[in-house]
Amino acid sequence: MRAFVLRARSTPVDGASLLASVGTGAHGEILAHTLMNAIYLAQSHRDDVIVHLVLERSPDYSRTVTFDSREIGDTGGFHEQALLGTIARALDASRGMGKEEARAVEPGVSVRTVSFERLAQELATRFQLFVMDRKGTPIRDQPFTRAPCFLLTDHLPMPKKGFSSLERLGAERISLGRRMLFASQCVVLLHHELDCRER
Ligand SMILES: C[S@@+](CC[C@H](N)C(=O)[O-])C[C@H]1O[C@@H](n2cnc3c(N)ncnc32)[C@H](O)[C@@H]1O
Repeated sequence: MRAFVLRARSTPVDGASLLASVGTGAHGEILAHTLMNAIYLAQSHRDDVIVHLVLERSPDYSRTVTFDSREIGDTGGFHEQALLGTIARALDASRGMGKEEARAVEPGVSVRTVSFERLAQELATRFQLFVMDRKGTPIRDQPFTRAPCFLLTDHLPMPKKGFSSLERLGAERISLGRRMLFASQCVVLLHHELDCRER
């Protein structure tokens, strides 16, 4: 399995606001681009990927919308509008949920009121955690010994305290070079590196 977590610090947790955030400072489109590159291939999709989108602009709890590519059905296409529509439906389904509740939304899509920190703790028990950071170990020098989980942010950086608590969970920093890339571009390069090593 390969897992990706996008910590979307600026994305609102209600469906209509998410859809309205495209092209604004909140950049809801980042979620769709990352999801698209994590799961979809030309004419098919990967069958070994889990994507957690953690939306943090919330009056109560963060929302983690999870896509499991082994179970996912027809999302109505892989274009931005279709993918954001699916995320918006998951957010609408989470209205009124209490802390750390979970709800199935549609095949392969679920939503939880769980924070990024809590999710990372859970994932650390099952995956080798990596925080994406231009100053980290170059990916070519990084061994992968367990199923990897890559932690990314939207256009807002990971808070400094966030890095330290992730390191306490055993997360390692890895780099894809000096250029500042979009999260969705990191995902493509990460898949490529893992695909090459599988051959
Ligand atoms: C647009 S960047 C975040 C930009 C944000 N202003 C910052 O300073 O981190 C989105 C995500 O991609 C990761 N990223 C971008 N370029 C990278 C690179 N060359 N190597 C590793 N991670 C990278 C960042 O660490 C972040 O998780």
